[in-house]
Amino acid sequence: MTEELTLGEVSGLSRQVLERVGQAVVGKSEALELVLAGILAGGHVLLEDYPGLAKTLAARSFAQALGLEFRRVQFTPDLLPSDVTGAFVYDQKESEFVFRPGPIFTGLLLADEINRTPPKTQAALLESMQEHQVTVEGQTFPLPTPFHVLATANPVEYEGTYPLPEAQLDRFMLRIGFGYPSPAEEWEVLRRRMSRRREDQSVDAVTDAAGLLAAQRTVETVTVDDTVGQYCVDLATATRRDSQVLVGASPRGSLALLLTARAYAVIQGRDYVVPEDVKTVAVAALAHRITVRPELWLHEVTGATVVRTVLGLVPAPPTVAVAR
Ligand SMILES: Nc1ncnc2c1ncn2[C@@H]1O[C@H](COP(=O)(O)OP(=O)(O)OP(=O)(O)O)[C@@H](O)[C@H]1O
Ligand SMILES: [Mg+2]
Repeated sequence: MTEELTLGEVSGLSRQVLERVGQAVVGKSEALELVLAGILAGGHVLLEDYPGLAKTLAARSFAQALGLEFRRVQFTPDLLPSDVTGAFVYDQKESEFVFRPGPIFTGLLLADEINRTPPKTQAALLESMQEHQVTVEGQTFPLPTPFHVLATANPVEYEGTYPLPEAQLDRFMLRIGFGYPSPAEEWEVLRRRMSRRREDQSVDAVTDAAGLLAAQRTVETVTVDDTVGQYCVDLATATRRDSQVLVGASPRGSLALLLTARAYAVIQGRDYVVPEDVKTVAVAALAHRITVRPELWLHEVTGATVVRTVLGLVPAPPTVAVAR
């Protein structure tokens, strides 16, 4: 816990992490910056997109570059809560029940396809994420620090999927879509695969768990101008007033917006947050917390379109560079 990092060092570290992840993942730089902002802000991130867009590759590469222990759990329809959290098992030698920790006890957990598992198992994961501990049969076990979840979900509502309820989605700091690569990027994926001559790829660590913790502590020291904080509140409250919306973003949403914008500013090499940072992270921080009126689903109104609408309506404060 002795390690101290300056804001400049955290910016440099962030660029290195992104550069390493970029050795594996072609393109997607905006999405990757957002993922890192979510982690630096201490949050969990939901990657929602179609299969085959490098979500798993990105998650594994972040774990490697950040030097975190990595576990992956495939969320299948028959997965039980104890398959995630762990359970008490009988130890013959000691004649007693001992707790066998599940895969959630790690630094970075890739929870793959969480919408394919029934609500009970989803709830076990999300509760532990939120509380940073696992409770089994009345006993609690703290999770490691840092502990981050990158979860993936498929947006196609296949038969037999269990969409996460809004209350559960709210526990993710960010929801990020990857999107398809451009044809040039896609060709680069193929080209790299051929020159590599194998499927697997890995990247080298630029830091470790203690280094990430130190970086997160440093991000916490960035002060935010009142006008920028007020802007975050105005955006979140505007989602609640929108006539297309059934339930808008909660204060947890405005908090996520502020914390992510702050981490994003540091990644950009600044020690102050500008309204543009807030705008850049707004869809990822807020869209998944908004429930659109059901009668509008057919009109392609989504949480993201609501956030874009309020970004157009709510006046942004002037940019102020805070003297430090
Ligand atoms: N942008 C990209 N950069 C590098 N490799 C990519 C990219 N997009 C896809 N690939 C390659 O495509 C394959 C699929 O990637 P990956 O398994 O990470 O996808 P995924 O999004 O996790 O898919 P699924 O939803 O099916 O789990 C991998 O071989 C990966 O290397
Ligand atoms: Mg995958």
